[in-house]
Amino acid sequence: MSEQKNNWLEQAKGAIFDLDGVIVDTAKYHYLAWKWLASELGFDFTEKDNERLKGVSRMRSLDILLEVGGITLDEARKEELAAQKNQLYVDYISKIDENELLPGAKAYMLGLKERGVKISLGSASKNAGLILDKLGITELFDAIVDGTKVAKAKPDPEVFLLAAQELGLSAAECVVYEDALAGIEAAHAAGMKAVGIGEAHNLPDADMLVDGLHQLV
Ligand code: BG6
Ligand code: MG
Repeated sequence: MSEQKNNWLEQAKGAIFDLDGVIVDTAKYHYLAWKWLASELGFDFTEKDNERLKGVSRMRSLDILLEVGGITLDEARKEELAAQKNQLYVDYISKIDENELLPGAKAYMLGLKERGVKISLGSASKNAGLILDKLGITELFDAIVDGTKVAKAKPDPEVFLLAAQELGLSAAECVVYEDALAGIEAAHAAGMKAVGIGEAHNLPDADMLVDGLHQLV
């Protein structure tokens, strides 16, 4: 990382990381679990459809999936299906270890810590605690804000505003790292700059774009 480094990135006092698709390659397990559920319901769910689910809460993800399949269900049945999807997802993530950390993620966070930058998680996932534990990186975080702590899902800024608050920083002092469109929107709604992890066509509004955190190390 060198010439494309931006001032706002160097000056940030807080770094707020999304989890799935930024620190760890769990996005593929979410996709596999949703794809399985769609096939149980009798339709195909493509990777393109799946982009709409990134960063989105579990129940909102199910609503989008059912919309793709043209299916309407009552709340009780939706709760059942979301629980089934989550069970399959938890089966997958119960087996992960530090090898599933995305390239450069740990090295980048360690570098930030050396520079005195505070680090928070800012994830929609209710499984974040289990995942961080499996990866052995819980201790790297000064604050952990996940789906168990927030009421409103991204693109609402709640998760990032709470993360900044827990770090004792203002929104403007924090930078967000996100792989989801809804996450970039949430960062901007919070008044934070956002580093997009992924491809420009999926993240057109990111303030800076990289393929992965390895590019910033
Ligand atoms: C986000 C993922 O991090 O967490 C979404 O990008 C997922 O795809 C959301 O739906 C909720 O995760 P969980 O683990 O609570 O079902
Ligand atoms: Mg993500």
